Amino acid sequence: MNISQVQQEILRLKKEKDICVLAHSYQAREITEVADFTGDSFQLSVKAKDAPQKTVIMCGVRFMAETVKLLSPEKTVYLANPTAGCPMAEQMDKDIISEVKKAYPDYTVVAYINTTTSLKTICDVCVTSSSAVKIVKKLDNKNILFIPDCNLGAFVAKQLPEKNFKLLNGGCPTHAKISAESVHQAKAAHPNALVLVHPECKPEVTELADYIGSTSGIMDFAKKSDHKEFIIGTEISIVEHLSYDCPEKRFYPLAQNLICQNMKATTLIDLYNTVKGEGGEEIILDSDTIIKARRCIDKMIELG
Ligand code: 13P
Ligand code: SF4
Repeated sequence: MNISQVQQEILRLKKEKDICVLAHSYQAREITEVADFTGDSFQLSVKAKDAPQKTVIMCGVRFMAETVKLLSPEKTVYLANPTAGCPMAEQMDKDIISEVKKAYPDYTVVAYINTTTSLKTICDVCVTSSSAVKIVKKLDNKNILFIPDCNLGAFVAKQLPEKNFKLLNGGCPTHAKISAESVHQAKAAHPNALVLVHPECKPEVTELADYIGSTSGIMDFAKKSDHKEFIIGTEISIVEHLSYDCPEKRFYPLAQNLICQNMKATTLIDLYNTVKGEGGEEIILDSDTIIKARRCIDKMIELG
């Protein structure tokens, strides 16, 4: 079968079996084309909650599939490629953060959604890149322990000078590849382009950007802007999606190696096999973990 035939089969099977396919915006084009919904982490969480189907397949990384399961424990949830994890989410575990919490007892623990479910059980509230500023602003406590991404944390702290932030040394290895030097080089090559970056980039990069936002935020900004050229500082898929969506505009990656191997681990065939019932991994979480971890996800949806 060629790509289009596989896509037709996926569309037929998911209709027949009443399956909802969610795809993060970093997924390849051939996957987003057959997904019921494509978006950033926050949008996927909301869709996961509202999807009418009883079976959901996540094309993304493990914490995203686990978030779907946390929000809909009664649904059958699959991660299309079981090897797809987020390295940042694995950087800090429950033991490390329990110790840090002892040192900062008066702090509200704000967890980026890119964390493991086990770690979420001891955090107060989750945030995504698009909802972090809004949610942290609404918290009563002035003292914020923000985990694990120090770059997103620094970005939020800059918008909320009235809060007192404690950041740890975590972050995304893909966005860490971008340096201020990459921005200067890209601007020299494309002087008329606006620079749009993800808040997981280092402060030396976000300081030079014209816009900072989530994957969907970057896409919306580029689509609505009157500008014709954009330098994109996030995973390379966003350049590809925008180039299809806005053929009259030009999009350039901020660096050539901005590929998240984990997001790219999922292939169209993985999705096909999962829809057929011959692949993927069903997400199983025990009820105690679901109850504890869900508190901070529910709080995110309530405040976001
Ligand atoms: P978004 O919340 O922007 O989708 O980001 C998720 C992510 O993993 C970015 O690296
Ligand atoms: Fe995780 Fe970074 Fe990949 Fe996003 S881009 S899934 S934060 S490793």
